[in-house]
Amino acid sequence: MHTLPPSDNSIILEAKGIKKSFLFRNSISVVLEAVDFHIHQGEFVSIIGPSGCGKSTFLELLAGISKPDFGQIFLNQEDITGRTGYLGYMPQDDLLFPWLNTMQNILLPIRVRSGDINQAKQIIEELLPLFGLSNHAHHLPHQLSGGLRQRVALLRTYMCSTKVLLLDEPLASLDSLTRAQLQTWLKEIVRKLNVTVILVTHDIDEAIALSDRIELMSKDPGTFIQSINIAAMRGKDDTTRLELKAMIRGMFI
Ligand SMILES: Nc1ncnc2c1ncn2[C@@H]1O[C@H](COP(=O)(O)OP(=O)(O)OP(=O)(O)O)[C@@H](O)[C@H]1O
Ligand SMILES: [Mg+2]
Repeated sequence: MHTLPPSDNSIILEAKGIKKSFLFRNSISVVLEAVDFHIHQGEFVSIIGPSGCGKSTFLELLAGISKPDFGQIFLNQEDITGRTGYLGYMPQDDLLFPWLNTMQNILLPIRVRSGDINQAKQIIEELLPLFGLSNHAHHLPHQLSGGLRQRVALLRTYMCSTKVLLLDEPLASLDSLTRAQLQTWLKEIVRKLNVTVILVTHDIDEAIALSDRIELMSKDPGTFIQSINIAAMRGKDDTTRLELKAMIRGMFI
């Protein structure tokens, strides 16, 4: 179980006044407007919002893959706006290279930044059991189950050498049983690795089970509209949980 989020001075990542629009067929649509966000060191925050509200766009901005029209992103108070390589980003699609085996896929971020491959291999060998991948280092993606592929993608994201992970619906493509197993596993591994996580999910139960805090987003334009402190609710009875679930669902129907 996560501890309560630490005090304000340990904010690790912050987005301020973000606006993002896209030009599509000669018309501009504003996807994100006046977006402010922060996360503390070691905190687990889930983002829930209707499809198309800009959740993936927001994670891409945090990861530096695209640039905001306005606003800035700070990691440990350093401006990283539009700069990649600072945060571990796992896109909505796992994007494992089909011709590379598990080990080679996980080594990719180290190759990209010309890191020490032998040292990385040693670290990966040590982490494979924790990720349930001990017997799969030499398998190609098509030889792995969906759940195992997501574990490979997650370990690869972790090998980006960052303690902040941005996970875009990492479990969405899995059947409900595998998904439930991986949720339990994810919770455990996040605690063991002491990472900070931003998770985008459509699954309210998943968000409640894993998060210290849930941030709800609206659409057109996408912005954060409500923050729910889950950590403060731990230990409360099931009724509170059910009410919370109904409240979140109600906001989007
Ligand atoms: N490169 C792009 N060019 C034009 N429009 C884009 C681009 N990327 C995203 N959009 C639009 O921005 C909006 C937000 O997209 P985004 O993928 O961030 O939504 P989302 O909240 O992640 O949705 P979902 O829950 O379905 O994954 C959508 O209307 C999408 O069509
Ligand atoms: Mg998305």
